[in-house]
Amino acid sequence: MGSVFEEAIETFLSPIGDLLADSAVTEIMINGPDEIFIERKGLVYKSENTFPNEEALISAFRAVAQSVGRIIDNDNPRLDARLPNGSRIHVVLPPMARNGTTVAIRKFSEEKLTISDLIKFGSMSKMGARFLDICIHLGKNVVVSGGTGSGKTTMLNVLGSRIPKTQRLIIIEDAAELQIHAEHVVQFETRKENLDMGIVGVTIRDLVISSMRLRPDRIIVGEVRGEEALDLIQVMNTGHDGSMGTVHANNALDACTRLETLCLMGDTKIPAEAIRKMVGSAMQVIVQCSRYHDGGRRTASISEIIGLDEHGNYVCKDIFKWIQTGKDPETGKYIGEMVPCNYVPSFFEDIIVNKLPFPKANFIAPDWVKNLKKEAA
Ligand SMILES: Nc1ncnc2c1ncn2[C@@H]1O[C@H](COP(=O)(O)OP(=O)(O)OP(=O)(O)O)[C@@H](O)[C@H]1O
Ligand SMILES: [Mg+2]
Repeated sequence: MGSVFEEAIETFLSPIGDLLADSAVTEIMINGPDEIFIERKGLVYKSENTFPNEEALISAFRAVAQSVGRIIDNDNPRLDARLPNGSRIHVVLPPMARNGTTVAIRKFSEEKLTISDLIKFGSMSKMGARFLDICIHLGKNVVVSGGTGSGKTTMLNVLGSRIPKTQRLIIIEDAAELQIHAEHVVQFETRKENLDMGIVGVTIRDLVISSMRLRPDRIIVGEVRGEEALDLIQVMNTGHDGSMGTVHANNALDACTRLETLCLMGDTKIPAEAIRKMVGSAMQVIVQCSRYHDGGRRTASISEIIGLDEHGNYVCKDIFKWIQTGKDPETGKYIGEMVPCNYVPSFFEDIIVNKLPFPKANFIAPDWVKNLKKEAA
């Protein structure tokens, strides 16, 4: 017999046992007992699996919650938890969930994608990857932006692993997901408040504040989605260059606006214009992750934010971006590649001074891109 958790999985989750065991399935979405969708290789399919009825489904996740010391019932109808096998689950019970108990399971994969995998999959060009390496080496603040499930955490993991080994990293997350292999890593996880059990909550914001006093070289926040945005922006503006985080946004400019909005959520006395200036100077490089309609996850762009213009708008310049050039008639997969955008970053001098092997020519768009644009015009 295994642990309480393994027993709960074996007994109660047997209707989806094969999906849990199949490593090609990366996500399982349960919309009530009769409807289960899965994601395989980036595409979502309806599965044949079902639960016998709502009672069986609800009991299954009640047992899973219990096995990790959490409760899901009428008073706590939503559960966000990380399972001992590393998978992440989110559950919402009826009547809020109109289809019946609704669950998403993001399966944990032992094999984290590496930068070479991203290049191999065509999610990122070799040159884009080398450029990001240089940004990290130079201690640029890098924010990874993207929609839900677009590959933000994967990207942050890849980028974090490129940080020079001698530096002290402090990682702060809601649920520990990042596995950054470096020599000197301190990892923090938040704690949910549970007044019934007398448990005081510890937020990302609290942990960012603590981190500042723990002599970090760089701070990495898994997902910025609350008031901690202001603390992170301050961290980035006050000598902890090379800090990183992810934010939920559809493009690089949106990422700036989103962070600005989050900064203003708290009870800050800092005027809105000042916050905008702080965001403009803290944000240096933005890596945009996207999940395209063909199911492929790609790095849509790598951009630089060079502050605000005279009207107070963010100035964003794309350095590299992915462009589609066709579509495979058999698989329906998009064909395309990441190309330079004819913009030389403002910190090019740092690249030269530090003798980093990245010539200016790498930023120049190839002729075929220019011709493609002319053709489309
Ligand atoms: N470039 C990629 N190519 C193929 N699969 C990828 C790529 N990037 C991420 N994935 C896979 O996509 C899934 C979602 O990735 P990830 O958790 O990084 O997304 P996310 O944007 O952080 O999601 P969330 O919004 O839920 O936090 C994972 O299974 C991951 O392995
Ligand atoms: Mg994530």
